[in-house]
Amino acid sequence: PGMNGDSPRQQVERNRLRLRQYMLAYYTEEAPACPDADYDALARRVVELEAQQPHLRDWDSPTTVVRPPALDPFPTRAHSTPMLSLSNVYSMDELREWEASLLRLLPAQAPTYLTELKIDGVAISVLYENGELASAVTRGDGQVGEEVTRNIKTIRKLPHRLPEPLNLEVRGEVYYTAADFEKVNRQRERLGEPAFKNPRNTAAGTLRTLDSTQVSERRLHIAIHALVSQSPRDSDYETLRWLEGLGFPISEPLHRFGSVDEMADYYRRTMEKRHDLPFQIDGIVVKVDALAQREQVGFTSKSPRWAVALKFGAEQAVTTLQAVEVGVGRTGVLTPIAHLAPVELGGTTVSRATLHNYEQIRRLDLMLGDEVRLEKGGDIIPKVVGVVSEARSRGERAPIAPPTTCPSCGTAPVRLEGEVDHHCVNPACPAQRAERIRHYVSRAAMDIESLGPVLIDQLLKAERIQTFADLYTLGAEELEKLERMGTKSAANVISAIENSKTKPLDKFLHGLGIRYVGERTARVLALHFGTLQGLREASVEDFADVNEIGAVTAKSLYNFFHDPVQLALIDQALALGVNPAPLAAPGGATEPMAGKTVVITGTLSIPRPRWKERLERAGATVTGSVSRKTDYLLAGDSPGTKMDAAHTHGVQVVDENQMAALLEQP
Ligand code: IVH
Repeated sequence: PGMNGDSPRQQVERNRLRLRQYMLAYYTEEAPACPDADYDALARRVVELEAQQPHLRDWDSPTTVVRPPALDPFPTRAHSTPMLSLSNVYSMDELREWEASLLRLLPAQAPTYLTELKIDGVAISVLYENGELASAVTRGDGQVGEEVTRNIKTIRKLPHRLPEPLNLEVRGEVYYTAADFEKVNRQRERLGEPAFKNPRNTAAGTLRTLDSTQVSERRLHIAIHALVSQSPRDSDYETLRWLEGLGFPISEPLHRFGSVDEMADYYRRTMEKRHDLPFQIDGIVVKVDALAQREQVGFTSKSPRWAVALKFGAEQAVTTLQAVEVGVGRTGVLTPIAHLAPVELGGTTVSRATLHNYEQIRRLDLMLGDEVRLEKGGDIIPKVVGVVSEARSRGERAPIAPPTTCPSCGTAPVRLEGEVDHHCVNPACPAQRAERIRHYVSRAAMDIESLGPVLIDQLLKAERIQTFADLYTLGAEELEKLERMGTKSAANVISAIENSKTKPLDKFLHGLGIRYVGERTARVLALHFGTLQGLREASVEDFADVNEIGAVTAKSLYNFFHDPVQLALIDQALALGVNPAPLAAPGGATEPMAGKTVVITGTLSIPRPRWKERLERAGATVTGSVSRKTDYLLAGDSPGTKMDAAHTHGVQVVDENQMAALLEQP
């Protein structure tokens, strides 16, 4: 008998109901209706009751739908005090202005400044309770972040337990060293995954990785730059040294200066040496050192007045423009490429830079022999951003005109109405052909890596190939006869070509080089249409109806699949044994919902994220609102306005059983 004299069945039912309500609140409102501990106790109670009375078990008991940690692995947490940002200055002059404004607020005593490196990483707040690492929360919007404690605990140098049972909150920067970032990418390369571009974003992504073992293998680092709790010391410098004594990895090196002027040398040296550091920095942070003075100057709504980030800005270098070469792209775009007198920029020697197009050259009023200013932005390829005008009178200069012929085939280029680019429109242009085949064999497409650019050029010159389809007519013996080709490498090339025949449809589609169709779009198309035949039969509207495909891409696709030349090439490839595989689900089964878009509404018997997960595993995209591109509305009880929208757009409405049946389909 239960506490209210209920029967065991009633007890179980009552507890299940409460549990279900909590779960519903948890999943739909995205905010727990009760503390986690209460929820867990309740869930345990139901599990116990069910264990004692096995006949009361029920397939849809919330306990069989245990709150899976993967659904909300990083719960949101409010910060004890907001995580603010720093205001930026970009020069020593601006830093002096900041100093002047401080001196007005601190007339009695000029401050001493503490400088640190501004590490380009991810901000984190770490809490210790009774000396134990209790939680770690990302910056989020500054007020509320995500709890990533498990992943933060993989950082080897961060103490899990302090030598004293202290309660404190520290903040710092999580980052990758260049060496460890490279290791991550080498590992990805081994797994055939594309490399990450930037350590900062990768650090952010790593913190949100579900599998902490994986995180641990990756070696994140942390540098503590602030104590949020009351400090037992008078200055930030002393505070950080105190933290260091407790075992924290602090943001080294720390320097103290009596004025901004004294910092000038240090700033210049740091800027010059930044690429010798083991991690990325984008400036230095200058802080008032004395904690009492910090209180005096206070905060604005966004940032402390007592600190500022002196940013480096994009790095520039000046060198001579020696020549302009014309590059021919896969689609025939003619791109001017600058040849420069070699110069150091951002840790590498640069002798080539993109000029984008001839419009850009005109805008910059660029001439051969000019001294030009180079910049390395976020990309790896440097660009020419301007002319150093004083240098104009020196040396001979010559204007740079758009090409009158394609450097590869000699055809006169065309400039389309409204476009800045000059195009070579000769489909037989050797440079375009080479680029198209390079693209077809690239890793992101058909992955025939052993067929390198040199071999492609040899085969094109010998007129053994003209298009990707011709690759499938090659034999090992003829390759062996080519210069620099052994029996083994010839066999490798042939087997890679053979292997490519059954590559997934999306890889083949990407390899075809259809305008506006990149890797992702190719995948969306392959999932939606399933086969090449499906793509050939699609109308412009059919293409445009696919989620993520816009009108311009739809038109380009339709044109491609109605171009007799392209169709003949595809047919030739198919006749030679190319047979792209339909996309398969990870388990090997095909995805019954491939390419379908589903919206979920109403109260369902299992939590909404679980449905979402099931649908996505079946290949569907789950979106938030009903449009004419929606394929199904999965409706539970009390569906609301989405139901009306589904009727308006003629979207098929299904209940849970019907959806389950659709998912069972082969
Ligand atoms: S002190 C009130 N010191 O830069 C903020 N921040 O723009 C006090 N950062 O998100 C921050 N290196 O995570 C401080 N040595 C350093 C830093 C640093 C990087 C980050 C910080 C914050 C951002 C502020």
